[in-house]
Amino acid sequence: MEIKTVGVVGCGLMGSGIAQVCAASGYRTIVREVEQGLLTKGLGRIEKFLTDGVEKGKVTADAKAKTLGNLSGTTKVEDLAACDLIIEAIIENIDEKASLYAALDAVVGAHTIVCSNTSSLCITELAAKTRRPDRFAGLHFFNPVPLMKLVEVIRALTTSDETYKTVFAFAQSLGKEPITAPDKPGFIVNRLLVPYLLDAIRSYENGLGTIEDIDKGMKLGTGYPMGPFTLLDFVGLDTTYYIANIMFDEYREPAYAPPPLLKRMVLAGRLGRKSGQGFYKY
Ligand code: 3HC
Repeated sequence: MEIKTVGVVGCGLMGSGIAQVCAASGYRTIVREVEQGLLTKGLGRIEKFLTDGVEKGKVTADAKAKTLGNLSGTTKVEDLAACDLIIEAIIENIDEKASLYAALDAVVGAHTIVCSNTSSLCITELAAKTRRPDRFAGLHFFNPVPLMKLVEVIRALTTSDETYKTVFAFAQSLGKEPITAPDKPGFIVNRLLVPYLLDAIRSYENGLGTIEDIDKGMKLGTGYPMGPFTLLDFVGLDTTYYIANIMFDEYREPAYAPPPLLKRMVLAGRLGRKSGQGFYKY
């Protein structure tokens, strides 16, 4: 199946990055937000990333112009009617996603594939909320989307072979390296990453070392680009807490149980970079 027009729903941190890479890869890309203020903010993030890229000599002025030329924004779901593939990147709430899918089902063509960028919800359950469970899959990007090469492709129990192949090839066409992950909480990367991050917090609570030393140890001793606490602040403590709870509910293994300090930091509003304070101050 040929994909020409891509829709992205949600122009937050992930949605704007996804829209950017789709437009940069030559797809006509329409990104939808619920209201104009959020749309303007998301499109501004894309413009800034491209401008920074030009200044750093990583993006040509021509590529920037072409990317922006392929991109348009809207607040109306109906404007996604002509999309061949739609990537949903809205809030991690099953009811919100279900009502969006119903609105999409009412306007898009029979051939349209819908993907979710969810990092925590069950892809089979999401597929069952649509009228196209065979044309639905998980397509999980990593933050920052324009820089991270990986994409996880997740099949729902109902995803057809053709949909899976199309989505996998689409991820490759974005210049990404897709891997196939199971429809189980955490997929592949978060399944291994989240227990590591939780273990770092538990170890810190148990006196393993200072936050700075643990970060320095893992960064310089293992070549990770960020230590666990820098990464926790980057991902967001609320996001990590939310994913950990979903993983613990499913697997019932202590490795996935959020440590008390994580819960208290979320309750205190120390969510990481986005709130100005997490394990570090920003
Ligand atoms: N346009 C184009 N290229 C750019 C750019 C821009 N605006 N900004 C930066 N770059 C390039 C840089 O030139 C550099 O390229 P080079 O390697 O060829 O020199 C590269 O991108 C890295 O940029 P910087 O040097 O500015 O920054 P860092 O080297 O500090 O890298 C980082 C930043 C990529 C964020 C790195 O710290 C990193 O990989 N951190 C880990 C991120 C991570 O783990 N993400 C996954 C989180 S989990 C997740 O998302 C899943 C979810 O479900 C929770």
